[in-house]
Amino acid sequence: MDSPYVYTRYGNPTWERYERALGELEDAEVVLFASGMAAVAAVLLAVLEPGSSAVLPSDCYLGVRALAEQQPAQRGVAVSLVPTARMDPSSVPEGTGLLWLESPSNPGLDVCDIAALAESGNARIVAVDNTFATPLGQRPLDLGADLSVTSATKHLSGHADVMMGFVATRDHGLAKSVRDWRRTAGSIPGPFEAWLAHRSLATLELRLSRGCENAAAIAALLLARGDVSGVRYPGLPSDPAHELAARQMSRFGTIVSFDLGSRERADAFLAAAELITEATSFGGVHTSAERRARWGQDEVPEGFIRLSAGCEDAGDLLTDIERALAALG
Ligand SMILES: Cc1ncc(COP(=O)(O)O)c(C=O)c1O
Repeated sequence: MDSPYVYTRYGNPTWERYERALGELEDAEVVLFASGMAAVAAVLLAVLEPGSSAVLPSDCYLGVRALAEQQPAQRGVAVSLVPTARMDPSSVPEGTGLLWLESPSNPGLDVCDIAALAESGNARIVAVDNTFATPLGQRPLDLGADLSVTSATKHLSGHADVMMGFVATRDHGLAKSVRDWRRTAGSIPGPFEAWLAHRSLATLELRLSRGCENAAAIAALLLARGDVSGVRYPGLPSDPAHELAARQMSRFGTIVSFDLGSRERADAFLAAAELITEATSFGGVHTSAERRARWGQDEVPEGFIRLSAGCEDAGDLLTDIERALAALG
């Protein structure tokens, strides 16, 4: 009974080693979950109090919006949605129970001022979905957030073969709430998956550095073309989010978005590009992309593509993209 490992749903030495390693990156307590959504659910269901209120981005990851609009609402939580680009202290009423931020946002790559929003004190708890940036690209807890939530399915594990998520916090009471929730709800990661994800941590910095360089090169190439519009990458000096992103991020990430004008052109591009795998996930060693409007849940044009740059040779990738664009005529 006194052993911490009396039953694997209660605790497991393999998760704990990975949690300690992630905790060193975050300077925080880390609680690992079965997926990014399991980590999000722990915050929305175990931290957000019934009968309180929450403000979320209207343009955040569609799975988070779906969950927030279902479960908390059924528990009497008033949920309001604000676009990330317009998220400022005046959009968060005083006494808000939970402010959920996602910066940069998925898929539109807008950015909000995390420090200003946390400092305003309008929300009792501020949580940031840090999946696009990763702890090596942005440190929400240093910017004043109470919780940093990451889908480790993406860059952290990096090989598109593991699902995992985690919550990081410097508040022991919050860590206990989500850890207790994990035990009772059973949203635990498998020990084997945790071991695999932990192994990937050694190459995170290398993969991220190469992916960010490739993303910057792809964004610059797309921006210079007349047949591509709406190019977004926070690292582009001309990007509307650049100034703020440069202040609060230490790298601009691997994700680029752009518009090819129509569903047909976007589908033809994805079919013609040989080095781009068509996939909805991102953050892997291989470049992937999808036509985001296919889900019908994000406010994006029909030809909008969200691309995640991988670790391929930059020259090969740029040549492939130019060739696929040329094939569109
Ligand atoms: C920004 C963001 N947060 C959370 C999630 C959920 O993560 P998972 O798929 O690991 O449950 C995703 C998934 O795509 C995401 O893009």
